[in-house]
Amino acid sequence: MRQLELYPTRTRHLHAVSSMAIIGPSRRVANSSEGSGKGVFAREGCANCHTPPLYTNNKLTLAYGFKPPGDHPNRADIIELSVGTDPGTALRTRKGTGFYKVPSLKGVWYRGRYGHDGSVTTLEEWFNPARLKSEYVPNGWKGYGVERRAVPGHEFGLRLPQDERDALVAFLKTL
Ligand code: HEC
Repeated sequence: MRQLELYPTRTRHLHAVSSMAIIGPSRRVANSSEGSGKGVFAREGCANCHTPPLYTNNKLTLAYGFKPPGDHPNRADIIELSVGTDPGTALRTRKGTGFYKVPSLKGVWYRGRYGHDGSVTTLEEWFNPARLKSEYVPNGWKGYGVERRAVPGHEFGLRLPQDERDALVAFLKTL
């Protein structure tokens, strides 16, 4: 599980459009925090699912509580585990499949909402362990009439010391 390859940091280029330079987080040379975040990403096994270079293995994980039939047409793509996020949209909605596909982390830094239901709005919030508590107030989608609720599941990276979590987020912002 833990045998992960470290990929060399891509050289980043600064693009200039007319006279204005666009310097987004993904276009800088990695600083030391981003570099150590890459090490945390490897050590924590993130690449087993978010596999470079696309930062996804393109597999389907099970919505919590879902057991696919043995003859499911997509069985070759199914990983028999759940990351434990809220299964509501995959199981209770009309178009629900029972699966959550491993999302690519390419460009994750500019996506505004995270998790399949957009419960959290920043990467810092996605990796904030406080979101597991029932009194948590999500910054993104809460549900109708709901003030506080946990944003459960995907507990990867939640138990890291703060400096490592910061480094991990800094690295993710370079993808
Ligand atoms: C077992 C597979 C697996 C592992 C290991 C894993 N993830 Fe994920 N990751 C997923 C799945 C599945 C989702 C989508 C969950 C959902 O939306 O309900 C996800 C979602 C995410 C998201 C939100 C992306 C978005 O667009 O909403 C981020 C960021 C992320 N993972 C980063 C990481 C990092 C960093 C690690 C390691 C500390 C990690 N993941 C480990 C499977 C995994």
